Amino acid sequence: KKTENHMLIIFGASGDLTARKLIPAIFNLYKGNDLPENFVVLGVSRSDLGDLIFRNKVVLESPYLEKEREEFDADYIQKFADKLFYEDLGSDYDTSYERLEKRISDLDQKYGTNGNHMFYLSTPPSLYEPIAKNLSDQGLNDESRGWRRLIVEKPFGYSLESAKELNDGLHTYFKEGQIFRIDHYLGKETVQNLLVTRFANSIFEPLWNRNYIHHVEITNAESVGVEKRGGYYDKSGALRDMFQSHLLQIVALIVMEPPLSADAEEIRNEKLKALKSLKIMKDEQTLFENTIRAQYVASKIDGQEVKGYREEEGVDENSTTETFAAIKFFVDNWRWADVPFYVRTAKRMPTKVTEVVIHFKTPHHQIFKESGISNKDNKLVIRIQPDEGILIKFGVKVPGQGFEVERANMDFYYSSLTETHVMEAYERLLLDAMQGDATLYARADEVEAAWAFVDPILEYWKNSKDVKMYGYAAGVWGPENANDLIEGLGEWRNPSEN
Ligand code: BG6
Repeated sequence: KKTENHMLIIFGASGDLTARKLIPAIFNLYKGNDLPENFVVLGVSRSDLGDLIFRNKVVLESPYLEKEREEFDADYIQKFADKLFYEDLGSDYDTSYERLEKRISDLDQKYGTNGNHMFYLSTPPSLYEPIAKNLSDQGLNDESRGWRRLIVEKPFGYSLESAKELNDGLHTYFKEGQIFRIDHYLGKETVQNLLVTRFANSIFEPLWNRNYIHHVEITNAESVGVEKRGGYYDKSGALRDMFQSHLLQIVALIVMEPPLSADAEEIRNEKLKALKSLKIMKDEQTLFENTIRAQYVASKIDGQEVKGYREEEGVDENSTTETFAAIKFFVDNWRWADVPFYVRTAKRMPTKVTEVVIHFKTPHHQIFKESGISNKDNKLVIRIQPDEGILIKFGVKVPGQGFEVERANMDFYYSSLTETHVMEAYERLLLDAMQGDATLYARADEVEAAWAFVDPILEYWKNSKDVKMYGYAAGVWGPENANDLIEGLGEWRNPSEN
């Protein structure tokens, strides 16, 4: 695909995401010759920087490009840095956007970017709408002189209502086709591979339904705590931070029907249908039985003292924000009726891992019952990260007399597939947006459908007198009670086990 000449304008350019993720991703595109001939980046924020200081900060002295500076010669790096510019917005918004418009049009002229502009909002969400309005006031949303696209970061809304307001607000100034809502999990190679595994093979899809699948389990674990983001996280929590976005996107890819083609709208239509078919939990009893939340408490990991969540910087000492969430739910449609889905996500777990486990039913008629192989042993594990791969667990005969059955593993790891550079999530997503491909971006209606499912859980957690906040020691697999959700099925799979 062709990437047309354009300018990338990053709002919030002095922030962490720009230096840590965006500029390194753009450097990788530069290195891979994926940038168009005429391309510049204009960083925008309220800090008083200037072009040279900005280049030093995010390229020439950036800790996130240290390796690259060693690997490539100084001229090559400098040539990249020279594509970067900076505009200080100051505090007077009335005049600053006029100044910004002028700067953009000067750079357009000078560098031949054809009036194509991509605005990346790496700012708090409360600024999305005001920025969109200011851009619109300056005619910067007008596509008569080049394409104009807007990329917005997570979190997209705080609830269904706020997400709708945000969508409505943005739609006042930009058309849906111009808006790209980034969900970096969709940029992960293995998340995209869910589509290929299901729809490029004939060996999985016939089994991919209630007749053969016993239950589906998704684990998303991080070993880190809230790090330096206590202030943000305490207003968010595991359900908003991970579940509503990344994990429900994964659920949608597992649940969806085959799309007519790999076209962006076809895929997103099917994902929307999948999200709409999640059975919304309405009554307190159901919510009580199917949701678990918890917070990590102080502990020792590898001999090191680790703070509890409530002691973290920026976190309220009486906080009721969850750092662990486990939800059991059903998908109300023909394919999935009665198949339970179990999803858990948490900080301060023993390890960092994301995996999807499809547990298959036991054969209807068991002739080797004695051997003890149960549905627990028949599964497909899709490892999203790390050690990306697909593992199949099935029963084989133990050599020797009789029919003793043992579990065997058939494992595929991505690392064995290629030595070539695997694109980072941000790199791929940026390139897609540069090419106008929205397949891996979430559409307004998808985001709203995901919130519609999450809202009642959040409300219940906030308001119910019965809801508990469990504790778990930092470095363990969450509270014991989370196993109650899986009752009758054993336990959650331990992802460290092969
Ligand atoms: C972000 C969340 O969206 O995803 C973070 O805000 C989380 O809290 C991160 O740490 C996890 O991403 P990854 O790619 O490291 O799994």
